[in-house]
Amino acid sequence: MKLILLGPPGAGKGTQAEILSQKLGIDTISTGVMLRTAIREGTELGLKAQGYINAGELVPDELVVGIVKERLSQDDCKKGFILDGFPRTTAQAEALTASGVEIDKVLSLEVSDEAIIERLSGRRECKACGTPYHVVYKPSSAGDKCSVCGGELIQRADDNEATVKNRIHVYHEQTEPIKEYYKEKGKLVIAYGQEELADTTREVAKALGLEA
Ligand code: AP5
Repeated sequence: MKLILLGPPGAGKGTQAEILSQKLGIDTISTGVMLRTAIREGTELGLKAQGYINAGELVPDELVVGIVKERLSQDDCKKGFILDGFPRTTAQAEALTASGVEIDKVLSLEVSDEAIIERLSGRRECKACGTPYHVVYKPSSAGDKCSVCGGELIQRADDNEATVKNRIHVYHEQTEPIKEYYKEKGKLVIAYGQEELADTTREVAKALGLEA
């Protein structure tokens, strides 16, 4: 399965990608995680990306397309992958098509703008491995530590209310038009992000034609 997860910030793309990755035995490629890792490691890419991310703006296409193409050329991607957070502009979608990568399905995870603000204010993530949690909807079984690796749980720098509002605006303006691009190619499927995580997981499986 070569899958793209689309959706507004906080829709649950990372959460569903983690579940699908285990179910399908394929890796998730998250441009958000790659960029935050680059920032943490102080690489040239990280230094260039930091200002955009902290302001809730998109990182320029030419920076992101390069790292995704490089990752997709690796051997493990031949058996399939889940793209989380890429493409995010029509130019990125066109670059992916032009690179010859054949996508099976594009899943759009739909959540209202109001729900997003609540979700992101309660989100925590592992500083070490990036696993996402929510203080109410998906608490860690290890308390204030990551249940996967024991790392420290932190709040992301771009999860403050003003930045979240800008990320939502940027999503509607620059990313949502991609749905039409993939609809015309017959690849688009839709799932509605529900309040209960398990219900969303079921919706996603149904939309992708997988067993729940
Ligand atoms: P990125 O890291 O991709 O962030 P995002 O798209 O804004 O999405 P999030 O990671 O915030 O949310 P999510 O949908 O994964 O939700 P999650 O599962 O965590 O990008 C960050 C930045 O990097 C961008 O703003 C941009 O600057 C840059 N960038 C990245 N890719 C780029 C690209 N291609 N081009 C240019 N720039 C790029 O869930 C959210 C919370 O809700 C969690 O706490 C979770 O536990 C909880 N939750 C999940 N599902 C449910 C549910 N059903 N019910 C209740 N709670 C739920």
